[in-house]
Amino acid sequence: MNIVVTGASKGIGFSVVQSLAKQGATKIIGISRNYKQLCELKYLCNKTSKVDFIPIAYDLQQLPLNEHQLAGLIKQHVNSIDILINNAGTLICKPFETISTDEINRMFSVNYTAPALLIKNLLPLLKVGKAHIVNISSLGGFQGSVKFSGLSHYSASKAALAILTECLAEEYKTDGLVFNALALGAVQTDMLAEAFPNYTAPTSPEQMGAFIADFAINGKAFFNGKILPVSITTP
Ligand SMILES: NC(=O)c1ccc[n+]([C@@H]2O[C@H](COP(=O)([O-])OP(=O)(O)OC[C@H]3O[C@@H](n4cnc5c(N)ncnc54)[C@H](OP(=O)(O)O)[C@@H]3O)[C@@H](O)[C@H]2O)c1
Repeated sequence: MNIVVTGASKGIGFSVVQSLAKQGATKIIGISRNYKQLCELKYLCNKTSKVDFIPIAYDLQQLPLNEHQLAGLIKQHVNSIDILINNAGTLICKPFETISTDEINRMFSVNYTAPALLIKNLLPLLKVGKAHIVNISSLGGFQGSVKFSGLSHYSASKAALAILTECLAEEYKTDGLVFNALALGAVQTDMLAEAFPNYTAPTSPEQMGAFIADFAINGKAFFNGKILPVSITTP
C-alpha cells in the first residue's frame, strides 16, 4: 500500500502514520513544514515496522501558488496511491470582528484549497490505485453540531472540505475512487490546547490516529461520499 498523509509532523497525523506503518503500509509519504519532526517520525516507524517512510517538507500555503509542485515531489517516489489522508489543518481562534483577511485566507488555503488542489493533481496516481481519499474535517463544520465562538472561519473551511468530499464521490464514482470525510470531535493536540487552554479532550491523538488509520484501510468497503462525525459526545 502506498499512502500519503499531510500534517504528519505532530498531533493526529503523527499517530496516523505510526498506526498505518504497524498495519502493513509499504510506503508512506508524510508531508508538513517541520522536516526535523518528520525525520523523528521516520525513526520511530523504522523501529516498529518495515515501512518506507518518505518525509517531504512542504508548506501547504504554497500550493495555490503552484498547484503542480507538491504532486511533482510525490510522483518522484510512487506511481500509484492507495490512500490519501488530507489531515493537515490550521486553526486561528479569534472573534469574527477581529480576524483579518490574511488569517481567513490562511485557514481556507490550508484547510480547503490545498487538499482540493492536491487531490486534483494526484488524480492520475489515485485512479491507478483505486484509492480511498480521507479528508479530515471537524465537528465544528458538521451541520447541526454545537458551534464555538471564535471558530467561524475555521468551521466554515472544514464544512467546505466536507461538502467537497460528497461532490467528488459523485464525480469520480465510475473511476473506482472513494471519498469520505471524518468530522472529528476534540482530540488533545497542540491545536486544541492553543484554542482551548482550559479544556481537556476525551480522546488522545494515539486513539484517534489508530481509528483514522483503520478507517482509511477498511472504510472504503462500507462508506463513500459520507461525512462521518467521530466523537463520543452528541453533535
Ligand atoms: N485536535 C482536535 O481537537 C481536532 C478536532 C477536529 C478536527 N481536527 C483536525 O485534525 C487535523 C489534525 O489536527 P491536530 O489536532 O493534529 O493539529 P496539530 O497538532 O496542530 O497538527 C497539525 C498538522 O498540520 C500540519 N500543518 C499545519 N499547517 C501546515 C502548512 N501550512 N503546511 C503543511 N502542513 C501544515 C502541521 O505540521 P507543521 O506545523 O510541521 O507544518 C501538523 O503536522 C486538522 O485538520 C484539524 O483541523 C482536530
